[in-house]
Amino acid sequence: MKKFERTLITAALPYANGDIHLGHLAGAYLPADIYARFLRLTGEDVLFICGSDEYGVPITKTAEAKGITPKELVDQNYKSIFSSFKNFGMSFDNYSQTSRDIHTETAQAFFTDLHSNGKLRQNTTDQFYCAQCDRFLADRYVEGTCPKCSAEGARGDQCEKCGAALNQIELVNPVCAEDGTTPELRATTHWFLPLGDWQPEIEQWLSEKPHWKENVLNYCRGWFEDGLSDRAATRDLHWGVKVPLEDHEGKVMYVWFDAPIGYISSTREWANEQGDSEAWRKWWQDDSTRLLHFIGKDNIVFHAIMFPGMLMNHSENWILPDNVPANEFLNLEGGKLSTSRGYAVWLPEFLENFPADTLRYTLSRTLPETRDTNFSWEGLQARNNNELGNNFGNLANRIFSFAHKYFDGKVPQWSDSVLEDIDREALNQVEVHLGQWRTHLANFEIKLAMEEAFSAGQVGNRYFDESAPFKSRKTDMDRCGVSISVSLQILKALCVMMAPVTPFAMEKLWSWLGQDSDLHTNSFIHATTPLPSGLELGKQEILFPRIEDEQIEAEQEKLKELQD
Ligand code: MF3
Ligand code: ZN
Repeated sequence: MKKFERTLITAALPYANGDIHLGHLAGAYLPADIYARFLRLTGEDVLFICGSDEYGVPITKTAEAKGITPKELVDQNYKSIFSSFKNFGMSFDNYSQTSRDIHTETAQAFFTDLHSNGKLRQNTTDQFYCAQCDRFLADRYVEGTCPKCSAEGARGDQCEKCGAALNQIELVNPVCAEDGTTPELRATTHWFLPLGDWQPEIEQWLSEKPHWKENVLNYCRGWFEDGLSDRAATRDLHWGVKVPLEDHEGKVMYVWFDAPIGYISSTREWANEQGDSEAWRKWWQDDSTRLLHFIGKDNIVFHAIMFPGMLMNHSENWILPDNVPANEFLNLEGGKLSTSRGYAVWLPEFLENFPADTLRYTLSRTLPETRDTNFSWEGLQARNNNELGNNFGNLANRIFSFAHKYFDGKVPQWSDSVLEDIDREALNQVEVHLGQWRTHLANFEIKLAMEEAFSAGQVGNRYFDESAPFKSRKTDMDRCGVSISVSLQILKALCVMMAPVTPFAMEKLWSWLGQDSDLHTNSFIHATTPLPSGLELGKQEILFPRIEDEQIEAEQEKLKELQD
């Protein structure tokens, strides 16, 4: 396998049309963050890029409904998304907005490159035009009778009643959704990505990716079998990146054309902030960089097919994704998440009531890595109380209490030569789990990696019980000290294994273990280095507070009301 020198990680740019919910986190953001943190932990060079995806028709509709401009709306939402991501522990190196100038420049230059090299195809079609509003109507702005089921109020893109996907000109008795007037059909010219022409090249490239996840490759195979069709690169709208061509007044880029370019503009923004405006190039145009796109399954076609096609057909030498580890969907209390019905658990609200680490850990154990999975509040409570609380938190608490009570808050006297079989065995077992943990994470198998961390915690608990410092304390203080030293040593390895998933708690634990290095940078190599006798330990607090039944019941109630 190819040896890469650095890794560029992207997480899907979230639509700036509302808050982040648990489905987003399980699909893309948490796995991306765990992976980025894992690589930094093992000393790799990582850049983690994201930002808000701020164009598209839903944004203009929401802004109109609120009586503010689209820019005002996306700026408000940027602030709240950015802050809830931060409180959730997302470790982005840069989080940008597609409504910023740097993105306009980057996306326009990209478009110009494809256009001037004859890579885009032009096509003229009929589209509804509202004279009253003086604009072409996007699909969602036309309403009428569904041609399939005759339901009233079908939208130009879809009939909610029968679920049929529609083309706006098929609607019977079409009207403008804004003012109810009847629109006229007018010819309009647009630019398209000729994905059909690009298919052989894209298919060939993907055939060299046997290491991709099976679910992702299966989706791609399906699209290839159906045959790729051209996709619009421009739209008749005012809110979007302006098409950089003369005679294209009132046309902007289709949001799925400009959004992935947002990864590049966010990287350029980061480079500018580093004071080296060319620093982005080594992340995008150097073959020794490994590019990874973390997304949910609804984004696969754009990241595994469309965006790579755009990059391949651009005149500069861009790297293509080495992997697109997309996840399936997360269900909620057995039901499908739905943002339109509000059936979701929203991140800002969650974080008002519970710690980020609890959510990160619970999701890390139930990620929809290969198929849809379910989130339940009872599950969250059990993961928090039984696993974080009992397996990890209590272990730490017992060990530190002992060290403070009987060993003056220091690592007790010990050395290799005094270790007995029981000590060595426990340390070995933990080391084996640590190795497996690493292998799984490197392979995007977060759930399996977390099982290893959990098992390592069990080794720690078993060791503490069996080496029984609470007994040897009365008979053999040296032996007791060794038990505590070995336990602390195990705790240190656990701290490293848990760091990408529960970063807030583990930062505390790391400092209580007398470590002053940054836990998150290159600490994997220190996971098993011995803690020297006499090292001063910090005073422990409760790492993972319990969650009570009442807290869970209140949340379950909220969801039930939404379901009825
Ligand atoms: N905004 C899209 C979504 O939430 C994702 C855009 S990813 C990008 O589904 F690559 F286009 F930026
Ligand atoms: Zn109108």
